Amino acid sequence: RVLILDFGSQVTQLIARRLRETGVYCEIWPFTASAERIAGFAPRGIILSGGPASTSDAGSPRAAQEVFGMGVPVLGICYGQMTMALQLGGKAEGSDHREFGAADVDVFGDCALTSGIWAPGARERVWMSHGDRIIELPPGFRVVARSEGAPYALIADDERRFYGTMFHPEVVHTPHGAALLRNFTHGVCGCTGDWTMAGFRAEEIARIRAKVGPEGRVVCGLSGGVDSSVAAVLLHEAIGDRLTCIFVDHGLLRAGEADQVVATFRDRFNIKLVHRDARDLFLGQLSGVTDPEQKRKIIGRLFIEVFEEEQSILGGADFLAQGTLYPDVIESVSATGGPSVTIKSHHNVGGLPEHMRMGLVEPLRELFKDEVRVLGRELGLPEEIVGRHPFPGPGMAIRIPGEVTAERVAILQKADLIFLDEIRKAGLYDVIWQAFAVLLPVRTVGVMGDGRSYDFACALRAVTSTDGMTAEVYPFEMAFLTRTSGRIVNEVRGINRVTYDITSKPPGTIEWE
Ligand code: XMP
Repeated sequence: RVLILDFGSQVTQLIARRLRETGVYCEIWPFTASAERIAGFAPRGIILSGGPASTSDAGSPRAAQEVFGMGVPVLGICYGQMTMALQLGGKAEGSDHREFGAADVDVFGDCALTSGIWAPGARERVWMSHGDRIIELPPGFRVVARSEGAPYALIADDERRFYGTMFHPEVVHTPHGAALLRNFTHGVCGCTGDWTMAGFRAEEIARIRAKVGPEGRVVCGLSGGVDSSVAAVLLHEAIGDRLTCIFVDHGLLRAGEADQVVATFRDRFNIKLVHRDARDLFLGQLSGVTDPEQKRKIIGRLFIEVFEEEQSILGGADFLAQGTLYPDVIESVSATGGPSVTIKSHHNVGGLPEHMRMGLVEPLRELFKDEVRVLGRELGLPEEIVGRHPFPGPGMAIRIPGEVTAERVAILQKADLIFLDEIRKAGLYDVIWQAFAVLLPVRTVGVMGDGRSYDFACALRAVTSTDGMTAEVYPFEMAFLTRTSGRIVNEVRGINRVTYDITSKPPGTIEWE
């Protein structure tokens, strides 16, 4: 296994993803991890991620110096390369010449990292995102590739098995990046690449049992989405009836979903399930609130309050389980004082109040969405749940810009249902990452029959993505869009105009709020 020390890059998780795609188990730890902890993990290799800091800043982050004395291979990427160079006696400087985006590097040497992939003399495309650069190599290193902006684009010390890249091999914009990483893990570190999801299931069940103990009781918030469903079934497999799921119906779900959750988990999987109808409470507290972050905070807070109430009725529990995924962890790091920037505060991460005094079990914390689906299938969950599009914790509240009312939710549910129905009929559900309707709080004039209408507009959103971090608009046929629009305007009272959102992420986000 390989350890990734995170210096706060937005793309650190992609390193983990690339490694797992080649069957290598890895974990991501903050760069502050102590030498003892790292040694205890016994990694076959260590990767130092990129990060937003500059090595010239006072107090800029460093890895534990012992990382370079454990006799294991180290790969430093971007900032990781900088700190490795400095920690091993080289010199780096902040540069005005920031290099960002695609760049070409000239390869003029060979090393274990590039072996069989980049030949000396070749010019190769890579993706750069850096400000600092090395000005003096540490002893033992030589340059293997250089670009105009980065004279030390790839450096190597084959003897100690230390490598550094100024570019990001983990992003798809570095065409041979995954192969370079594979050379590091399989070639340099000697990983066999035999890690599988079946292995993860067994390891995670053992980890849950070890953490929860023979008597420990766990409560789990179940939303019916892929993540909490997979988490619940995995936990149920690990600890059986010591798991109770609490389903808080906040009234912001898709039409018919609440009933489906109860039927699936209580009846089909025999999981202990508390179903709390809190629709009036949530809508009451959201009344008059229009600010997106405010809505997210209110929903997050109420969710915890209701959840706490239900779990105290149960007589308490020792652990709280959450279906937190890796991208949620990364996108929320700054909220807990880490180095990346908060775009939205996801309501399902880290919001546990101090006084709840429960341990946290997050069995999916290391996984990406598509990996959770593989795990779900492995656990025998039905395809209609495993293949379900992601749905945000705050639900339709963040798909109704402006005030959320029961009436607006009901209108949106109807439009959403029609959109998804058409998508399923067209056989497109599985090729789309997420599709939903958004109710716009503007009224526009229309003509219905012989009369004038003055109703809400609605936007349809459908994107493709592999991890939700970036997304492309789905290019529907015009006939599909006009057919769907026609149905919505005719069948949903309250909507008289339909638009299609054609913004990719970035610069847009997938949800509207
Ligand atoms: P954005 O809108 O940030 O969304 O591009 C990325 C992915 O995250 C989902 N999302 C959430 N999921 N709680 C969740 O569980 C949340 O608060 C939340 N906000 C956004 C969104 O649906 C998309 O899949």
